[in-house]
Amino acid sequence: MNEIADEPLATLELRPSEPAELDALIAQALARLDRTMPQFRDHFPAPSSESGTYAPIDNVEWTNGFWTGMLWLAWQMTGRDAYRAAADENVASFLDRVKRRVNVDHHDLGFLYTLSACAAHQLTGSEAGRAAGLEAAKLLLGRFDGVANVIQAWGDMRDPAQRGRMIIDCNLNLPLLFWAGRETGDPSFGDAATRHLRQAARYLVRPDASTFHTFYIDTASGQPRFGSTHQGFSDDSCWARGQAWGIYGFALGGLHTGDKAYVELAARLANYFLNRLPADGICCWDLVFTDDTTTPRDSSAATIAACGLLELVKALPVSDVRRDTYAAWAWRIVQSLGHGYAAPIEGSNALLLHAVYHMPNGAGVDEACIWGDYFYLEALMRLRNVWMPYWS
Ligand code: GLY
Repeated sequence: MNEIADEPLATLELRPSEPAELDALIAQALARLDRTMPQFRDHFPAPSSESGTYAPIDNVEWTNGFWTGMLWLAWQMTGRDAYRAAADENVASFLDRVKRRVNVDHHDLGFLYTLSACAAHQLTGSEAGRAAGLEAAKLLLGRFDGVANVIQAWGDMRDPAQRGRMIIDCNLNLPLLFWAGRETGDPSFGDAATRHLRQAARYLVRPDASTFHTFYIDTASGQPRFGSTHQGFSDDSCWARGQAWGIYGFALGGLHTGDKAYVELAARLANYFLNRLPADGICCWDLVFTDDTTTPRDSSAATIAACGLLELVKALPVSDVRRDTYAAWAWRIVQSLGHGYAAPIEGSNALLLHAVYHMPNGAGVDEACIWGDYFYLEALMRLRNVWMPYWS
């Protein structure tokens, strides 16, 4: 792994979560979800909103699993049949999608299938979920390059512009491979995931514990080429959501491989992230910006980071003093989101506003993003301790 310069975490007065306040935020989120559900019976919310409202789309985007994941979270939380029925209908759609190969030639199969199909199998024993998850995992494994030792993020496997390119977001796609390895007993799934994780730690993380969004490995020699950004401010800045994917993804990497070095790496990424937050605890869209008055925030990156911090709390030894700090930071972020970033019940079908999807393309800037809604609900459930994790 890269030589990391330790960055101590800035001190701040923090409080543990309050059960009554947490329950109120959960009730508020579920009330919004209940209002939104009838709009998406046969459809899914678009990746990001327009003027605070998600349009309904078919099952074609990399983001559709987040909606199904929210339905499973709500079902786990409440036991209400309506959530399970809607989620089960979605799972049938995901099985059909992977069978018909509808926009599945990219690495986001993990985001799509872990939260929909694999969650269904974990929670209800769904055979359709298992079949869909395994088919998706086989496609994801097909994107692994055995010389570069990475899963190619995007594009045709023969495209010279994309060959050997990994991105930090992929850390959250790896649980699909670990799951498939456990389900089938085939070691090639876990082997590919472990080798990719090692390359991600080595090359996507810079010496100061900030991250590149993307990095190229030469597929002929296996040698590192260069890092660059796709959705961040510049090649040498630190895209906030990428850093959040790194915090959560390396913490999960520690869980899946048993290698505690990934947990320590996640902690260092977390310190870098937390040390660059504006006063209300919600990051700007790239961590090069800390000005809380003029720069758009990315509330969705904040939700991912909060879940990552809570995964870190689970992963660190019980005697580790950092656990209380990370738990308190997660609560501070969630509390700030719930009070300052929640969408109004009228005039929006989202849970949270003020995220950024793709600033360089001008897409979804200061809008809601569906993964932000998912990870907000996951964070609330983690704080309430009522969650059976889907990423394990
Ligand atoms: N994984 C793509 C994104 O975070 O926008």
